[in-house]
Amino acid sequence: MCGIVGAVAQRDVADILVEGLKRLEYRGYDSAGVAVINNNNELLTTKRLGKVQELAQALEQQPVTGGTGIAHTRWATHGVPSEVNAHPHVSNNTIAVVHNGIIENHQTLRSQLQGLGYEFLSQTDTEVITHLVHHELKTSDTLLSAVQKTVKQLEGAYGTVVMDSRDQDNIIVARSGSPLVIGYGLGENFIASDIMALLPVTRKFSYLEEGDVAQISRFKVSIFDTNGEPVEREAKDANVSHDSGDKGEYRHYMLKETYEQPTAIRNSLEGRLVNGMLDINTFGEGADEIFKNVEHVQIIACGTSYHSGMVARYWLEELAGVSCNIEIASEFRYRKSFVPKNSLLVTISQSGETADTLAALRLAKEIGYQSSLVICNVPGSSLVRESDLAFMTKAGAEIGVASTKAFTTQLVGLLMMTVAIGQHHGMSDEKQTEITQSLMSLPAKLDEVLALASSIEDLAEDFADKHHALFLGRGDQYPIAMEGALKLKEISYIHAEAYAAGELKHGPLALIDAEMPVIVVAPKNDLIEKLKSNVEEVRARGGLMYVFADSDANFASDDTMKVINVPVCDDIIAPIVYTLPLQLLSYYVAIIKGTDVDQPRNLAKSVTVE
Ligand code: F6R
Repeated sequence: MCGIVGAVAQRDVADILVEGLKRLEYRGYDSAGVAVINNNNELLTTKRLGKVQELAQALEQQPVTGGTGIAHTRWATHGVPSEVNAHPHVSNNTIAVVHNGIIENHQTLRSQLQGLGYEFLSQTDTEVITHLVHHELKTSDTLLSAVQKTVKQLEGAYGTVVMDSRDQDNIIVARSGSPLVIGYGLGENFIASDIMALLPVTRKFSYLEEGDVAQISRFKVSIFDTNGEPVEREAKDANVSHDSGDKGEYRHYMLKETYEQPTAIRNSLEGRLVNGMLDINTFGEGADEIFKNVEHVQIIACGTSYHSGMVARYWLEELAGVSCNIEIASEFRYRKSFVPKNSLLVTISQSGETADTLAALRLAKEIGYQSSLVICNVPGSSLVRESDLAFMTKAGAEIGVASTKAFTTQLVGLLMMTVAIGQHHGMSDEKQTEITQSLMSLPAKLDEVLALASSIEDLAEDFADKHHALFLGRGDQYPIAMEGALKLKEISYIHAEAYAAGELKHGPLALIDAEMPVIVVAPKNDLIEKLKSNVEEVRARGGLMYVFADSDANFASDDTMKVINVPVCDDIIAPIVYTLPLQLLSYYVAIIKGTDVDQPRNLAKSVTVE
C-alpha cells in the first residue's frame, strides 16, 4: 500500500526520495509525489499520476533542490487516483503532509476546518491533517507540539510525516496503526514506512511504537510516547542485503522469488535442526513452556498466508494431535468467538503489518488467548513485536505483490511448529525425525520442480484465451489448489476458483465445459483413488484437465487431459512441492496476457488498512 520516505540532510534529497519511492513500488500504488523545502524556505511540490518513473521524469525536467523533503506513493482509499489527490498535501503553502492509513473521522474534521475557513482541494482524508496542523500551529510554539495536538484529534490509522517550509531543520513524524521506521545517517536522518526505501542511505534503524511522535533533525532524533514523555527506541543494524531490491537476471521479481525458494527454504531451516532434531528456541524464549500447555491452536491470517494456515490445520490435527481452527482475520476480529482452554493464537503474515491480522492479535489478548505466536518474514514488524513467540521465515525481501517464497517458507515454519507442539502431545521421535528429514530434502526437491518450468510455460498457452479456471485438490492439497487459484486471478486476471474435489458434484460440476480448464493437484496419497473418481466426473462432462501428479499416481495424458509429472516426494512436504508448479503456471499465463506481474492492478503488497 502507500509508501512514505522523508529526509533531513545537508545534501539535496530529491533523488534519495525518488529512489526510496522506487524501492517501495512493490507495495502497490497509483500516484506519487515529492515536496522539498528549498534554501529560500519555499515548498516545491511535484506530483504525478501513475508510476514513480513519471515523477522522476518530471523532476528531471524541472529539478527541485533542498535538503529537507518528504515523498509518497498513494494507493487510493478516499478519492480517485489523481494528481490532486496524490500526496504531499499542502496547507497555505507552508505545511506539507504525507500519510499512510485512514482517518476515520475525516468528515467531521473537514466540516470543522471548513468552518474555520480552510479550503479543501482534494477528496482525501489526509488533507484534514494538513489543515489541522496549520490551525494548531497558530497556538503552538513548535511544529512538534502542533502535530502532537493534531494526532490527538485523529481517529483511525496513520503513519504521517509533516514539515513546515519555514523550518528547514526538522520534520515531525507520528505513528498509530501504520508502521514508520527512522533511519540514522551521519549528519542526516531519514524516515520511511519500510526499511527497503532507505537501504541505499543507511543500515541503522529504529521502529516507532504505536502512539509515538518524533522530531527528526540532521543530528538529533527525539521520540515521545502517547503521553508526550521522551522515550528511547532501540536502533538496530538491519540484516538485509541492499541487492534484495534488484531483479538480477530475471524478468520479474515474482520469477526471481519463485526460483529463490530452494535457497529461501535452506535459510529457513539453517541452524534450526540440531542433529536432525528441532531446536525449540527458534520460536523464542519460553517457547517450550508455552507449547507444553497448548491444548488448542487458533490460526488467523489473510490471503495467501491464510492458505498456509489451512495446510497447517491438517498437519496439527493429524501429526501433532492438537485441535486447530483457522479463520480469516477480517472475520475473526468482528465476531464473538469461543476461546477453548489453553489456546495458542497463531498469526501468519509475510509483512507482519496486515491491519486485520494485527487487530485480531490484539483482540485475542483481550478475550483470553493464553499466548501468541507469529510466523512472519519481516523482523521488527508490528506482529513480531506484539506476539509472545515468533518464527522468522527468513525468506529474504519479497518484492512481487504475489507471494511465493514467503508462502512456502511459512509452510516450513508451520511444519516446524507442528513438530514443536507435537513433541508435547506424544509425537514419536521417529515421526519427528521423519518430518525433519523430509524438510531437509525439500530444497533439492524444489530444484527438480523448477526444472519443469519450460513444460509449464508451454501449458500456459492453453489458458491465454480463457476467462475462468477451476482448481481441484483434496486433503492438504485443497489449500494448495486455493493458493493456485489465487495466484492465477491475482496476476493474470483470469477468474479462478478452487474446490475440494469432493464438493464438485454439489454445484460446480454445472460449470464444466471445454471453456473451463480444470487444474488438478494430484500427488499419490491416501486420497488419490477418490480424486481419480472426481477426475472422471469432469471427463464425463467434456471438461479439459491439467493434472499435476507424480508418476506413482498413474495418470496418462490423452485428448482431455494433460499430465505434468511432478517429482515423487514425501506426503508431508507435498503441499510445498506442488505449490511451485502452480506459481509457475500463473506466472507464464500472466506473461502471455501481458499483465503487470509484479504490481497487479488494484493490489498492494502490505495491506495496512482494513
Ligand atoms: C497474495 C498475497 C496476499 C497476502 C495477504 C496477507 O499473493 O500476497 O493475499 O498474503 O495480503 O498479507 P500478509 O501475509 O503480509 O499478512
